[in-house]
Amino acid sequence: MALDFDLSTELCGIRFKNPVWTASGCFGYGREFAPVMALRDLGAVVVKGTSAEPWAGNPGTRVTETPGGMLNAIGLQNPGVDHFLRVDWPWLQEQGATVIVNIVGKTVDEYVEVARRLEGSGVAALELNISCPNVKEGGLAFGTSLAGAAAVTAAVRKATSLPLLVKLSPNVTSIVDVAKAVEDAGADGVTVINTLLGMSIDVRRRKPVLGNTFGGLSGPAVKPVALRMVWQVAGAVKIPVVGIGGIMTGEDAVEFLMAGARAVQVGTACFVNPRAPLDVAEGIGAFMRETGVGRVAELVGAARPEGGLGAGTGSAVGAAGRGAPAPAAPGAPAPAAPGAKPPAPKKAVGPMADYLRDFLKDSDRF
Ligand SMILES: Cc1cc2nc3c(=O)[nH]c(=O)nc-3n(C[C@H](O)[C@H](O)[C@H](O)COP(=O)(O)O)c2cc1C
Repeated sequence: MALDFDLSTELCGIRFKNPVWTASGCFGYGREFAPVMALRDLGAVVVKGTSAEPWAGNPGTRVTETPGGMLNAIGLQNPGVDHFLRVDWPWLQEQGATVIVNIVGKTVDEYVEVARRLEGSGVAALELNISCPNVKEGGLAFGTSLAGAAAVTAAVRKATSLPLLVKLSPNVTSIVDVAKAVEDAGADGVTVINTLLGMSIDVRRRKPVLGNTFGGLSGPAVKPVALRMVWQVAGAVKIPVVGIGGIMTGEDAVEFLMAGARAVQVGTACFVNPRAPLDVAEGIGAFMRETGVGRVAELVGAARPEGGLGAGTGSAVGAAGRGAPAPAAPGAPAPAAPGAKPPAPKKAVGPMADYLRDFLKDSDRF
Protein backbone atom coordinates (compact mmCIF):
# COMPACT_ATOMS: atom_id res chain seq x y z
CA MET A 1 0.00 0.00 0.00
CA ALA A 2 1.41 3.38 -0.91
CA LEU A 3 2.00 5.95 1.80
CA ASP A 4 -0.20 8.98 1.39
CA PHE A 5 2.42 11.70 1.76
CA ASP A 6 6.11 12.40 1.49
CA LEU A 7 8.19 10.87 4.29
CA SER A 8 11.53 10.86 2.50
CA THR A 9 14.84 11.17 4.31
CA GLU A 10 18.38 11.68 3.03
CA LEU A 11 21.56 10.11 4.30
CA CYS A 12 24.90 8.99 2.89
CA GLY A 13 24.04 10.81 -0.33
CA ILE A 14 20.92 8.69 -0.91
CA ARG A 15 17.31 9.84 -0.73
CA PHE A 16 15.16 7.12 0.81
CA LYS A 17 11.40 7.00 0.18
CA ASN A 18 10.79 6.90 3.91
CA PRO A 19 12.97 6.50 7.01
CA VAL A 20 11.97 2.89 7.78
CA TRP A 21 14.24 0.04 6.74
CA THR A 22 14.08 -3.63 7.56
CA ALA A 23 16.69 -4.97 10.01
CA SER A 24 19.21 -7.51 8.83
CA GLY A 25 18.37 -11.10 9.74
CA CYS A 26 14.71 -10.37 10.47
CA PHE A 27 13.51 -10.06 6.88
CA GLY A 28 15.61 -12.63 5.01
CA TYR A 29 15.90 -11.40 1.41
CA GLY A 30 12.32 -10.17 1.48
CA ARG A 31 10.68 -13.06 -0.44
CA GLU A 32 8.49 -14.26 2.44
CA PHE A 33 7.20 -10.72 2.97
CA ALA A 34 6.35 -9.86 -0.63
CA PRO A 35 2.82 -11.35 -0.36
CA VAL A 36 1.90 -8.82 2.36
CA MET A 37 3.64 -5.68 1.11
CA ALA A 38 5.32 -4.11 -1.89
CA LEU A 39 9.03 -4.01 -1.00
CA ARG A 40 9.45 -0.80 -3.00
CA ASP A 41 7.25 0.98 -0.42
CA LEU A 42 9.94 0.48 2.26
CA GLY A 43 12.74 2.98 2.83
CA ALA A 44 15.17 0.12 2.25
CA VAL A 45 15.51 -3.62 2.62
CA VAL A 46 18.62 -4.53 4.62
CA VAL A 47 19.31 -8.16 3.77
CA LYS A 48 20.63 -10.99 5.92
CA GLY A 49 24.32 -10.88 6.91
CA THR A 50 26.16 -12.05 3.78
CA SER A 51 29.57 -13.73 3.79
CA ALA A 52 32.15 -14.52 1.10
CA GLU A 53 31.29 -18.25 1.22
CA PRO A 54 28.08 -19.95 2.50
CA TRP A 55 27.87 -20.28 6.31
CA ALA A 56 25.92 -23.08 8.03
CA GLY A 57 25.13 -21.22 11.27
CA ASN A 58 24.84 -22.68 14.77
CA PRO A 59 23.39 -26.06 15.75
CA GLY A 60 20.65 -26.64 18.29
CA THR A 61 17.91 -24.37 19.49
CA ARG A 62 18.56 -21.04 17.80
CA VAL A 63 15.69 -18.84 18.93
CA THR A 64 13.73 -18.48 22.16
CA GLU A 65 11.16 -15.96 23.37
CA THR A 66 11.88 -13.79 26.42
CA PRO A 67 9.67 -11.27 28.23
CA GLY A 68 9.31 -8.42 25.77
CA GLY A 69 11.73 -9.86 23.26
CA MET A 70 13.66 -12.80 21.90
CA LEU A 71 17.10 -14.34 22.02
CA ASN A 72 18.70 -15.62 18.84
CA ALA A 73 21.85 -17.54 18.10
CA ILE A 74 21.44 -18.17 14.38
CA GLY A 75 25.19 -17.96 13.82
CA LEU A 76 24.82 -15.86 10.66
CA GLN A 77 23.66 -18.71 8.44
CA ASN A 78 23.55 -17.48 4.86
CA PRO A 79 24.09 -18.82 1.33
CA GLY A 80 27.03 -16.49 0.53
CA VAL A 81 27.48 -13.43 -1.65
CA ASP A 82 27.59 -15.26 -5.00
CA HIS A 83 24.21 -16.85 -4.31
CA PHE A 84 22.87 -13.44 -3.29
CA LEU A 85 24.09 -11.87 -6.54
CA ARG A 86 22.80 -14.71 -8.71
CA VAL A 87 19.42 -15.42 -7.07
CA ASP A 88 18.22 -12.76 -4.64
CA TRP A 89 19.55 -9.52 -6.07
CA PRO A 90 17.86 -9.88 -9.50
CA TRP A 91 14.57 -10.67 -7.75
CA LEU A 92 14.92 -7.69 -5.39
CA GLN A 93 15.60 -5.45 -8.38
CA GLU A 94 12.40 -6.70 -10.02
CA GLN A 95 10.53 -5.65 -6.87
CA GLY A 96 11.94 -2.13 -7.16
CA ALA A 97 13.42 -2.37 -3.64
CA THR A 98 16.24 -0.16 -2.38
CA VAL A 99 18.70 -2.74 -1.06
CA ILE A 100 21.44 -2.48 1.54
CA VAL A 101 23.65 -5.54 2.00
CA ASN A 102 24.72 -6.40 5.55
CA ILE A 103 28.15 -7.99 5.28
CA VAL A 104 29.95 -10.37 7.65
CA GLY A 105 33.32 -12.07 7.90
CA LYS A 106 35.55 -14.02 10.24
CA THR A 107 38.64 -12.12 9.08
CA VAL A 108 39.17 -8.64 7.66
CA ASP A 109 39.98 -10.23 4.29
CA GLU A 110 36.64 -12.02 4.22
CA TYR A 111 34.76 -8.73 4.75
CA VAL A 112 36.84 -7.11 2.01
CA GLU A 113 36.08 -9.99 -0.36
CA VAL A 114 32.30 -9.55 0.08
CA ALA A 115 32.60 -5.80 -0.48
CA ARG A 116 34.65 -6.35 -3.66
CA ARG A 117 32.13 -8.78 -5.11
CA LEU A 118 29.30 -6.29 -4.48
CA GLU A 119 31.17 -3.42 -6.13
CA GLY A 120 29.35 -2.30 -9.27
CA SER A 121 26.34 -4.54 -8.54
CA GLY A 122 23.97 -1.60 -8.07
CA VAL A 123 23.08 -2.24 -4.42
CA ALA A 124 22.50 1.07 -2.60
CA ALA A 125 24.94 0.66 0.29
CA LEU A 126 26.81 -1.75 2.55
CA GLU A 127 26.17 -2.25 6.24
CA LEU A 128 29.13 -3.77 8.07
CA ASN A 129 28.13 -6.12 10.89
CA ILE A 130 31.15 -5.84 13.18
CA SER A 131 29.65 -8.11 15.85
CA CYS A 132 31.22 -11.15 14.14
CA PRO A 133 33.94 -13.10 15.97
CA ASN A 134 37.43 -12.31 14.68
CA VAL A 135 39.16 -15.70 14.37
CA LYS A 136 42.58 -14.04 14.45
CA GLU A 137 41.76 -12.50 17.86
CA GLY A 138 40.53 -15.69 19.54
CA GLY A 139 36.90 -15.10 18.52
CA LEU A 140 36.54 -11.66 20.12
CA ALA A 141 34.02 -9.69 18.07
CA PHE A 142 35.60 -7.01 15.81
CA GLY A 143 33.20 -4.43 17.20
CA THR A 144 34.21 -4.90 20.84
CA SER A 145 37.66 -3.35 20.43
CA LEU A 146 38.46 0.08 19.01
CA ALA A 147 41.35 -1.32 16.99
CA GLY A 148 39.27 -4.20 15.57
CA ALA A 149 36.33 -1.94 14.66
CA ALA A 150 38.62 0.62 13.01
CA ALA A 151 40.68 -1.98 11.13
CA VAL A 152 37.74 -3.71 9.47
CA THR A 153 36.06 -0.38 8.65
CA ALA A 154 39.23 1.06 7.07
CA ALA A 155 39.86 -2.08 5.00
CA VAL A 156 36.31 -2.21 3.62
CA ARG A 157 36.34 1.56 3.04
CA LYS A 158 39.35 1.08 0.74
CA ALA A 159 37.67 -1.81 -1.09
CA THR A 160 34.34 -0.16 -1.92
CA SER A 161 32.97 3.01 -3.47
CA LEU A 162 29.53 2.25 -2.00
CA PRO A 163 28.19 4.20 0.99
CA LEU A 164 29.37 2.36 4.10
CA LEU A 165 27.32 2.06 7.27
CA VAL A 166 28.90 0.34 10.26
CA LYS A 167 26.53 -1.46 12.62
CA LEU A 168 27.72 -1.12 16.20
CA SER A 169 27.62 -3.70 18.97
CA PRO A 170 26.07 -2.57 22.27
CA ASN A 171 28.23 -5.12 24.13
CA VAL A 172 30.99 -2.61 24.85
CA THR A 173 31.94 -0.22 27.64
CA SER A 174 31.63 2.90 25.48
CA ILE A 175 29.68 2.71 22.23
CA VAL A 176 30.54 6.38 21.67
CA ASP A 177 34.25 5.55 21.47
CA VAL A 178 33.58 2.79 18.91
CA ALA A 179 31.36 5.16 16.89
CA LYS A 180 34.15 7.77 16.80
CA ALA A 181 36.71 5.11 15.84
CA VAL A 182 34.68 3.92 12.84
CA GLU A 183 33.89 7.51 11.82
CA ASP A 184 37.63 8.24 11.79
CA ALA A 185 38.22 5.02 9.81
CA GLY A 186 35.93 6.18 7.01
CA ALA A 187 32.37 5.06 7.84
CA ASP A 188 29.65 7.14 6.14
CA GLY A 189 27.12 6.32 8.87
CA VAL A 190 26.50 4.11 11.88
CA THR A 191 23.65 1.75 12.68
CA VAL A 192 22.92 1.63 16.43
CA ILE A 193 22.42 -1.13 17.79
CA ASN A 194 22.97 -4.83 17.16
CA THR A 195 21.63 -7.32 19.75
CA LEU A 196 22.60 -7.40 23.45
CA LEU A 197 24.33 -10.57 24.59
CA GLY A 198 22.08 -12.67 26.83
CA MET A 199 21.03 -16.18 27.78
CA SER A 200 18.15 -18.25 29.04
CA ILE A 201 18.15 -21.51 31.07
CA ASP A 202 15.65 -24.37 30.82
CA VAL A 203 15.33 -25.17 34.52
CA ARG A 204 13.67 -28.58 33.93
CA ARG A 205 16.52 -29.73 31.72
CA ARG A 206 19.09 -27.80 33.77
CA LYS A 207 20.64 -26.58 30.55
CA PRO A 208 20.92 -23.34 28.59
CA VAL A 209 18.02 -23.07 26.15
CA LEU A 210 20.15 -22.00 23.19
CA GLY A 211 22.48 -24.52 21.58
CA ASN A 212 25.11 -21.77 21.56
CA THR A 213 24.49 -20.99 25.31
CA PHE A 214 24.49 -17.25 24.60
CA GLY A 215 22.43 -15.33 22.08
CA GLY A 216 21.46 -11.83 21.04
CA LEU A 217 18.55 -10.15 22.82
CA SER A 218 16.24 -8.02 20.68
CA GLY A 219 12.69 -6.66 20.71
CA PRO A 220 10.88 -4.11 22.92
CA ALA A 221 12.96 -5.15 25.95
CA VAL A 222 16.06 -3.52 24.43
CA LYS A 223 14.42 -0.31 23.22
CA PRO A 224 15.38 1.96 26.12
CA VAL A 225 19.01 0.82 25.89
CA ALA A 226 19.08 1.27 22.12
CA LEU A 227 17.49 4.71 22.37
CA ARG A 228 20.03 5.81 24.98
CA MET A 229 22.87 4.65 22.73
CA VAL A 230 21.42 6.40 19.66
CA TRP A 231 21.14 9.59 21.71
CA GLN A 232 24.76 9.31 22.90
CA VAL A 233 26.21 8.42 19.48
CA ALA A 234 24.21 11.10 17.64
CA GLY A 235 25.64 13.65 20.03
CA ALA A 236 29.21 12.51 19.42
CA VAL A 237 29.66 11.92 15.67
CA LYS A 238 28.98 13.99 12.54
CA ILE A 239 28.01 11.06 10.32
CA PRO A 240 24.33 10.04 10.26
CA VAL A 241 22.92 7.53 12.72
CA VAL A 242 20.39 4.81 11.86
CA GLY A 243 18.44 3.82 14.98
CA ILE A 244 17.36 0.28 15.75
CA GLY A 245 16.26 -1.82 18.71
CA GLY A 246 12.77 -2.81 19.76
CA ILE A 247 10.82 -0.56 17.40
CA MET A 248 7.23 -1.85 17.15
CA THR A 249 5.21 1.27 16.30
CA GLY A 250 5.44 4.59 14.50
CA GLU A 251 5.81 6.43 17.80
CA ASP A 252 8.68 4.12 18.84
CA ALA A 253 10.37 5.14 15.59
CA VAL A 254 9.66 8.83 16.24
CA GLU A 255 11.51 8.49 19.56
CA PHE A 256 14.60 7.30 17.69
CA LEU A 257 14.29 10.11 15.16
CA MET A 258 13.92 12.66 17.95
CA ALA A 259 17.02 11.18 19.64
CA GLY A 260 18.97 12.04 16.48
CA ALA A 261 18.54 9.08 14.08
CA ARG A 262 17.91 9.95 10.43
CA ALA A 263 16.41 6.56 9.66
CA VAL A 264 15.32 3.52 11.66
CA GLN A 265 15.24 -0.23 11.18
CA VAL A 266 12.57 -2.68 12.27
CA GLY A 267 13.63 -6.23 13.17
CA THR A 268 11.99 -8.43 15.79
CA ALA A 269 8.59 -6.79 15.18
CA CYS A 270 8.55 -8.59 11.77
CA PHE A 271 8.27 -11.94 13.60
CA VAL A 272 4.95 -10.93 15.18
CA ASN A 273 3.65 -8.72 12.38
CA PRO A 274 5.14 -9.28 8.94
CA ARG A 275 3.87 -5.86 7.82
CA ALA A 276 5.55 -4.13 10.77
CA PRO A 277 8.07 -2.01 8.79
CA LEU A 278 5.32 -0.56 6.61
CA ASP A 279 3.01 -0.11 9.61
CA VAL A 280 5.82 1.77 11.37
CA ALA A 281 6.30 4.02 8.32
CA GLU A 282 2.57 4.70 8.21
CA GLY A 283 2.64 5.34 11.97
CA ILE A 284 5.33 8.00 11.53
CA GLY A 285 3.14 9.57 8.86
CA ALA A 286 0.14 9.52 11.19
CA PHE A 287 2.21 11.16 13.95
CA MET A 288 3.39 13.86 11.55
CA ARG A 289 -0.16 14.49 10.40
CA GLU A 290 -1.45 14.69 13.97
CA THR A 291 1.26 17.04 15.18
CA GLY A 292 1.57 19.20 12.08
CA VAL A 293 5.07 18.18 11.07
CA GLY A 294 5.78 18.72 7.38
CA ARG A 295 9.06 16.86 6.93
CA VAL A 296 10.85 13.96 8.61
CA ALA A 297 13.96 16.16 9.01
CA GLU A 298 11.99 18.28 11.50
CA LEU A 299 11.80 15.28 13.81
CA VAL A 300 15.49 14.38 13.62
CA GLY A 301 17.12 15.36 16.90
CA ALA A 302 14.00 17.30 17.96
CA ALA A 303 14.22 16.05 21.57
CA ARG A 304 17.87 17.01 21.94
CA PRO A 305 18.76 20.00 24.11
CA GLU A 306 20.84 21.51 21.30
CA GLY A 307 17.90 21.31 18.88
CA GLY A 308 17.07 19.19 15.88
CA LEU A 309 18.11 18.97 12.26
CA GLY A 310 15.04 20.99 11.32
CA ALA A 311 15.36 22.78 8.02
CA GLY A 312 19.18 22.56 8.11
CA THR A 313 21.55 20.07 6.52
CA GLY A 314 24.77 18.50 7.76
CA SER A 315 25.09 17.05 11.25
CA ALA A 316 22.10 15.12 12.50
CA VAL A 317 22.30 17.23 15.65
CA GLY A 318 23.00 20.61 14.09
CA ALA A 319 21.54 23.61 15.83
CA ALA A 320 19.42 24.66 12.86
CA GLY A 321 15.75 24.80 12.70
CA ARG A 322 14.16 23.54 15.88
CA GLY A 323 10.78 25.10 16.17
CA ALA A 324 11.23 27.13 13.00
CA PRO A 325 8.34 26.71 10.58
CA ALA A 326 9.55 24.66 7.60
CA PRO A 327 7.92 24.77 4.21
CA ALA A 328 5.53 21.85 3.84
CA ALA A 329 6.55 19.00 1.56
CA PRO A 330 4.27 18.24 -1.37
CA GLY A 331 1.29 16.35 -0.03
CA ALA A 332 2.34 16.94 3.58
CA PRO A 333 -0.26 17.47 6.30
CA ALA A 334 -1.37 20.97 7.20
CA PRO A 335 0.38 22.34 10.30
CA ALA A 336 -1.66 22.35 13.52
CA ALA A 337 -3.57 25.59 14.14
CA PRO A 338 -1.78 27.97 16.55
CA GLY A 339 -2.92 27.27 20.11
CA ALA A 340 -4.35 23.86 19.15
CA LYS A 341 -4.25 21.30 21.93
CA PRO A 342 -1.51 18.71 21.27
CA PRO A 343 -2.94 15.21 20.78
CA ALA A 344 -2.67 12.79 23.71
CA PRO A 345 0.35 10.48 23.40
CA LYS A 346 -0.50 7.03 22.12
CA LYS A 347 0.34 3.95 24.15
CA ALA A 348 2.79 1.45 22.66
CA VAL A 349 0.86 -1.30 20.93
CA GLY A 350 1.80 -4.58 19.31
CA PRO A 351 1.89 -8.19 20.46
CA MET A 352 5.31 -7.95 22.14
CA ALA A 353 4.36 -4.77 23.99
CA ASP A 354 1.02 -6.33 25.04
CA TYR A 355 2.84 -9.41 26.22
CA LEU A 356 5.27 -7.39 28.29
CA ARG A 357 2.49 -5.25 29.75
CA ASP A 358 0.52 -8.36 30.81
CA PHE A 359 3.65 -9.96 32.17
CA LEU A 360 4.44 -6.95 34.34
CA LYS A 361 0.82 -6.62 35.51
CA ASP A 362 0.59 -10.25 36.61
CA SER A 363 4.00 -10.46 38.20
CA ASP A 364 5.01 -9.38 41.71
CA ARG A 365 8.68 -9.72 40.90
CA PHE A 366 9.19 -6.18 39.62
C1 LIG B 1 16.87 -13.73 14.19
C2 LIG B 1 17.78 -12.54 14.08
C3 LIG B 1 18.82 -12.55 13.14
C4 LIG B 1 19.68 -11.45 13.03
N1 LIG B 1 20.68 -11.46 12.07
C5 LIG B 1 21.47 -10.36 11.91
C6 LIG B 1 22.44 -10.32 10.87
O1 LIG B 1 22.58 -11.23 10.05
N2 LIG B 1 23.24 -9.20 10.79
C7 LIG B 1 23.09 -8.15 11.66
O2 LIG B 1 23.81 -7.15 11.55
N3 LIG B 1 22.13 -8.15 12.63
C8 LIG B 1 21.34 -9.23 12.77
N4 LIG B 1 20.36 -9.23 13.74
C9 LIG B 1 20.19 -8.05 14.60
C10 LIG B 1 19.06 -7.14 14.11
O3 LIG B 1 19.28 -6.67 12.82
C11 LIG B 1 18.84 -5.94 15.07
O4 LIG B 1 20.04 -5.22 15.18
C12 LIG B 1 18.41 -6.36 16.46
O5 LIG B 1 17.55 -7.47 16.40
C13 LIG B 1 17.74 -5.22 17.23
O6 LIG B 1 16.61 -4.74 16.56
P1 LIG B 1 15.09 -5.26 16.85
O7 LIG B 1 14.89 -5.18 18.34
O8 LIG B 1 14.21 -4.38 16.06
O9 LIG B 1 15.06 -6.69 16.38
C14 LIG B 1 19.50 -10.32 13.88
C15 LIG B 1 18.44 -10.32 14.81
C16 LIG B 1 17.58 -11.41 14.91
C17 LIG B 1 16.45 -11.35 15.92
